[in-house]
Amino acid sequence: MAVIAVYSVKGGVGKTTLAVDMAWRSATLSGHPTLLWDLDPQGGAGWLLGLEDRVGSRAASAFQKDGKPAQLITPSRYPGLDVLQADESMRSLPLTLARIGKRKRLARTAAFLAAEYPRIVIDCPPVLNEISEQVFAAADLLIVPLPPSPLSARALPMIREEILANHPRHPPILPVLSMYDARRRLHRDVHTGFAAGWPVIPMNSAIEQIAARRAPLGTFAAATDANARLQRLWDGIEAKLAMQAATAD
Ligand SMILES: Nc1ncnc2c1ncn2[C@@H]1O[C@H](COP(=O)(O)OP(=O)(O)OP(=O)(O)O)[C@@H](O)[C@H]1O
Ligand SMILES: [Mg+2]
Repeated sequence: MAVIAVYSVKGGVGKTTLAVDMAWRSATLSGHPTLLWDLDPQGGAGWLLGLEDRVGSRAASAFQKDGKPAQLITPSRYPGLDVLQADESMRSLPLTLARIGKRKRLARTAAFLAAEYPRIVIDCPPVLNEISEQVFAAADLLIVPLPPSPLSARALPMIREEILANHPRHPPILPVLSMYDARRRLHRDVHTGFAAGWPVIPMNSAIEQIAARRAPLGTFAAATDANARLQRLWDGIEAKLAMQAATAD
């Protein structure tokens, strides 16, 4: 099993777009039964896959001791890819988790769901709070999209410090340079500077179209550089997970 969390303190940097894309590649191209788990009350992950909004307000009950997370899961139109959608109840998730007082509740729920889903991809809200703490405890790999801005050079150490403060055995962190525009000098400087060697996801109109078409890029623009970049990112994630599994044996 592997829990892959797409997390960043920064908002609007492509987390949901990446989480949905990675989950689709995991299920469809790698053939792992995959759960896409949306922790953001905005509920964008299911929406990008063309799902209707969840009726009711029960998503946060997945974390209750006697919760039934499996009953909250919806199949997507892609074989092997199911979604645990967010809803209004996720707004109070930080309070709910704090009230429950079990710092590993998300990890425990993920371990339970892993019986059905060898890959779980979590789309996180851009917060540093009880939700991120629980995500850091549950994840096997943390994908951190950051935009090509000098501010990102501050954000990454901040995230690392925050994680290290409470999780000495933390998951590997894979920073990704997102929204990259090679025509911009500043972007090129970041790419060759502090973000050298990071996977790059371009600012790209085909990727933007995912939200208009509500379908994964590979289903409508497979022969594009953007799709090749996303596939390379997924291949890198798979390679990291395989290495982790080999060293754990
Ligand atoms: N590589 C890209 N190129 C162009 N547009 C993109 C790219 N990635 C995402 N977008 C667009 O940018 C917007 C924000 O993307 P997304 O919702 O994935 O970010 P987010 O980090 O999840 O945001 P939030 O912090 O609000 O959850 C969306 O309109 C999306 O379609
Ligand atoms: Mg999002």
